[in-house]
Amino acid sequence: MNMIELKQVSRRYGAVEAIAPLDFSVKQGEFVTLLGPSGSGKTTLLNLIAGMVSPSSGQIFVRGVDITNAPPSSRGLGMVFQNYALMPHMTVFDNIAFPLRVRKMPKDEIRRKVKDVLDMVRLPDIAARKPKELSGGQQQRVSLARCIVYNPALILLDEPLGALDKKLREQMQLEIRRLHAQLGITMLNVTHDQDEALSMSDRIVLMNQGRVEQVASPDELYRSPRTAFAASFIGTANLISGTVQDNAGEHTVVSTPLGLLPATMRSGVVSRGAAVKLLVRPESVRMTCALHSPDVDTASGLRHAGTLEDSITLGSVVRHHVRLACDMQIVVQQQGNRRQITQERGAPVLLDWLPEDCQIILQD
Ligand SMILES: Nc1ncnc2c1ncn2[C@@H]1O[C@H](COP(=O)(O)OP(=O)(O)OP(=O)(O)O)[C@@H](O)[C@H]1O
Ligand SMILES: [Mg+2]
Repeated sequence: MNMIELKQVSRRYGAVEAIAPLDFSVKQGEFVTLLGPSGSGKTTLLNLIAGMVSPSSGQIFVRGVDITNAPPSSRGLGMVFQNYALMPHMTVFDNIAFPLRVRKMPKDEIRRKVKDVLDMVRLPDIAARKPKELSGGQQQRVSLARCIVYNPALILLDEPLGALDKKLREQMQLEIRRLHAQLGITMLNVTHDQDEALSMSDRIVLMNQGRVEQVASPDELYRSPRTAFAASFIGTANLISGTVQDNAGEHTVVSTPLGLLPATMRSGVVSRGAAVKLLVRPESVRMTCALHSPDVDTASGLRHAGTLEDSITLGSVVRHHVRLACDMQIVVQQQGNRRQITQERGAPVLLDWLPEDCQIILQD
């Protein structure tokens, strides 16, 4: 069953189309992330579902019920924001108990529930403290506790981890995933951090200028991006423009500034003469020293001569920038622990990759 369903929902602000008419759904128990650059409409979409913003067109359903015009408080959703929004003059206990008191729950039950959720977010001993006596990550966990304490079927999270440092953010990501698995709550999360989206989500909704660019699992989005935008937003992408020369054989042959390249179409068909982009991920490129393999025929178009411009070590991987003879720059990534060819800047190198790792993306 769909927990959330949007049918042709749009939102305009004067001339700005913050959300173009879109269809979109989240299944019960799913963890879905809205990912996209600043201004792409993520918060607007979340606020439409929460009822803080009303749509210019379309209908919104939660568990099959049309809630398009229902007030926010009647939608039964929990919301966690970037700024923790805890009440500063109240203790942690009172902050978490607040939504239960509003619901007129008996005192004993409130005490038990608050204790349970504080255990759940692994903060058993801080009920008597005020928010300002907690670290940022602890405050974030308290706001999460306040949200889950009344068992909402659906939680909306708008960049709740944005203010935390990298380490704390990663810890909280695991914490939220654990709670999601443990409680079976449907979660819709917003972020512009691709790593967060990739590590937390069952599905990612990639947004671009108020439109849905692609909806896919993290793995599929990385491996089979449908557009150049998707390819460059998730991970690093070498994109090579070209024209389809021959689509009859096992591999499609594309005419590019690097010569004729055999490439793979993951889904669909592409006609001769079509303008396309080719995607080669940095980790799919093999780099060899040109001086050690002088006999290689670079004219075949399968090995490309270039010059190493620089190499950067990023923890466990090394990233190289190579300038090819046609002046295109290609990024190459190698595992740092593998025996590497250590090359001087300016060294001549050869690059190659498998046709399977050279993927055709239709031109945007
Ligand atoms: N109340 C408003 N009035 C006018 N324009 C708005 C309003 N709210 C949002 N917009 C515009 O709608 C577009 C989408 O904004 P939104 O806040 O949804 O983006 P976002 O993806 O959440 O971005 P960010 O990552 O920066 O939070 C932007 O162009 C924004 O300027
Ligand atoms: Mg936003």
